Amino acid sequence: MVDILPLSSYPSYIDLLPAIQTCNITNLPENYFLKYYLYHALTWPQLSFVAVVRPRNGYKNNQGQVSVSGQYPKVVGYVLAKMEEEPTDGVQHGHITSLSVMRTHRRLGIAERLMRMSQRAMAECHRAQFVSLHVRVSNTAALHLYRDTLGFRVDSVESKYYADGEDAYAMRMDLSNMWLDWAEIERKDRERQAKDEKDADEGDEVGELGKKDEEREKEKNKENEKMVRVKVGRSLGVGDLVEKNEAQTASS
Ligand code: ACO
Repeated sequence: MVDILPLSSYPSYIDLLPAIQTCNITNLPENYFLKYYLYHALTWPQLSFVAVVRPRNGYKNNQGQVSVSGQYPKVVGYVLAKMEEEPTDGVQHGHITSLSVMRTHRRLGIAERLMRMSQRAMAECHRAQFVSLHVRVSNTAALHLYRDTLGFRVDSVESKYYADGEDAYAMRMDLSNMWLDWAEIERKDRERQAKDEKDADEGDEVGELGKKDEEREKEKNKENEKMVRVKVGRSLGVGDLVEKNEAQTASS
């Protein structure tokens, strides 16, 4: 079972960064210092996601008790993403720094989900106009994912972009259709708040104090109904003291 989580949601996401770095080193020639992962995680915690496999028997310590501390899920994929800090054209946009999925878990739709979740977060949290990325011109699998599955388009070819001299496609995809309408959300919030204030229920008195007079009277009557009136006196026989079954008397 693979879970896809925002990097910020794990109890201590910093603990997962070395495993994410290992996933990157295993799958791609473009690698980064650990502090660069940390910078992403701390600066844009909503934008990076990690695909993890939980331990088979859950999170248990040596005594078999459930405990998350000291136990890490296995990282099988990640997307490391950021907002462009100083966009040359002044347009607010996101950027995919790196994406990879371990061989053992490919073609399961993990990369697609990682990308879609990051893109949504860019649009909703940062109102990104578009998302950009670079990909090697020879990377057929990634190209299919970006262009055919997700709908990116090639913006330009950047010559000798990579350290080994290979060209890169600079790709981008518009995100403005995913923006949240904050004016509308705030208007609805105000409406809801006004309604809550109007229907404000300060709470009735509880217990005996909270009961209305009629309720109190009703309860008293009920108690009285349960009481059985009997004649008492020295002259009475035992039969007079025994509770009568009224129903039987009525039918007989
Ligand atoms: N050949 C052709 N198309 C592929 C392939 C492949 N081997 N793998 C994925 N795709 C495309 C398909 O369009 C697929 O849709 P479909 O399954 O409906 O046909 C789509 O991608 C989605 O596939 P996923 O299962 O989501 O992709 P997966 O989880 O296998 O990961 C990835 C794809 C990330 C490219 C993986 O192969 C990988 O980690 N490769 C090595 C690292 C890499 O190249 N990363 C991208 C570098 S660019 C950057 O980081 C910005």
